[in-house]
Amino acid sequence: MPAQILDGKGMANKIRAEIKDEVELFVKETNIQPALAVVLVGENPASQVYVRNKESACAQTGMKSIMFRLPEETTNEKLLTLIDTLNADTSVHGILVQLPLPEGIDEKKILDAIVPEKDVDAFHPENVGLISQGRPRFLPCTPYGIQQLLIRYNLETKGKHVVIIGRSDIVGKPMGMLFLQKGLGGDATVTICHSRTTNLAEITKQADILVAGIGKAKFVTADMVKPGAIVVDVGINRIEKEIVDEKGEKKIVSQLVGDVDFESVKEVAGWITPVPGGVGPLTVTMLLQNTLNGARGQTAK
Ligand SMILES: NC(=O)c1ccc[n+]([C@@H]2O[C@H](COP(=O)([O-])OP(=O)(O)OC[C@H]3O[C@@H](n4cnc5c(N)ncnc54)[C@H](OP(=O)(O)O)[C@@H]3O)[C@@H](O)[C@H]2O)c1
Repeated sequence: MPAQILDGKGMANKIRAEIKDEVELFVKETNIQPALAVVLVGENPASQVYVRNKESACAQTGMKSIMFRLPEETTNEKLLTLIDTLNADTSVHGILVQLPLPEGIDEKKILDAIVPEKDVDAFHPENVGLISQGRPRFLPCTPYGIQQLLIRYNLETKGKHVVIIGRSDIVGKPMGMLFLQKGLGGDATVTICHSRTTNLAEITKQADILVAGIGKAKFVTADMVKPGAIVVDVGINRIEKEIVDEKGEKKIVSQLVGDVDFESVKEVAGWITPVPGGVGPLTVTMLLQNTLNGARGQTAK
C-alpha cells in the first residue's frame, strides 16, 4: 500500500488560522501588532520568493512585516547598523535576515548581532544553547514545523529511531536536538548522518523516522528506507525536466523536487511529505509563531 501523505500545506493553514486567532487576542489585550522585520540583501531569485511568502504569511495572520531590500554591494557595516536600529526599535518583535547573504558579508557576525529576544530563526548562540539545554526561547523554524507535523498527525516519536541525513545548523543539528528533548515530539533515539558517514543506506534502513536535509535532488531511494517508515523530505531542489507538450514537441521545464525520490519511496514508506507542499509551508508558519512569541516575551517585560 502506498504511503499516506503528510500534508504540510494543509497543516500549515490550520496552524496559521490558530495563530491568526492568537494574534487577534494579543492585539486586543495589548494594542500592539506583532511585527517581523525581514532583511533581504541582493537579488537571489529564490530568496525573493521566500521573502514574498513570509510577507504574505504575516498579512494572512494579522502581523506586520517590514521589508528592507538592500543592494548586493551592501557592506557589513551598513547591515550591522540596520540590525542595531531594528534591535532598538520596540515596535519590531522579530528580525529575519534572509540567507544566503552575498559574498563578502560575514554571515555569522550579522546573525550574532541580532538580539536573542528578536532572533526568530533561533540562530543566535544563546538561543542554540537554550535549545540544547531543553529550555528554548525560540525553536528553529524548519525542525519546529516538522515536530509539529508529527505531533499533530499523532505520530509517536518516543522510543523511535530517528535518522537525519544532514548536519547543518539550520536543519540537521537542531532537528536532532528537538527529537532528543524530553516529552511530546521528542524522546527519540537520534542518529545524524552526513557526507562522511559510511554505509549510509545501512543506517537509514534502520530508521523509524527518516529526515532528509541534504540538498541533493531525489537522493533518498526506496532501497534506503525501512518498510512503513515515516519519511520527512526537507530538500528543495530545482531540476530541469524534458516533457512533450500538447503539440507533441519536446520542452525543458523546471520542476521543484525534494531530497527524496518520492515516486519510489512512497511505495515503501508508511508516511511521506511531498515537495512542494510538505515541510516548506510549515517553516514559514513557525516563523510566524516565533514572531508572536517574541512579541509576547518583549511586551511582558
Ligand atoms: N523546506 C524548508 O523549509 C527548508 C529549510 C531549510 C533548508 N531546506 C532545504 O533542505 C536542504 C538542506 O539544507 P541545508 O541548509 O541543511 O543544507 P547544507 O547546509 O548544504 O547541508 C547539507 C547536509 O547534507 C550532507 N550531505 C551532503 N551530501 C551528502 C551525502 N552524499 N551523503 C550524506 N550526507 C550528505 C552534508 O554533509 P557535510 O556536513 O558533511 O557536508 C550537510 O550536512 C536543501 O535542499 C535546502 O534547500 C528546506
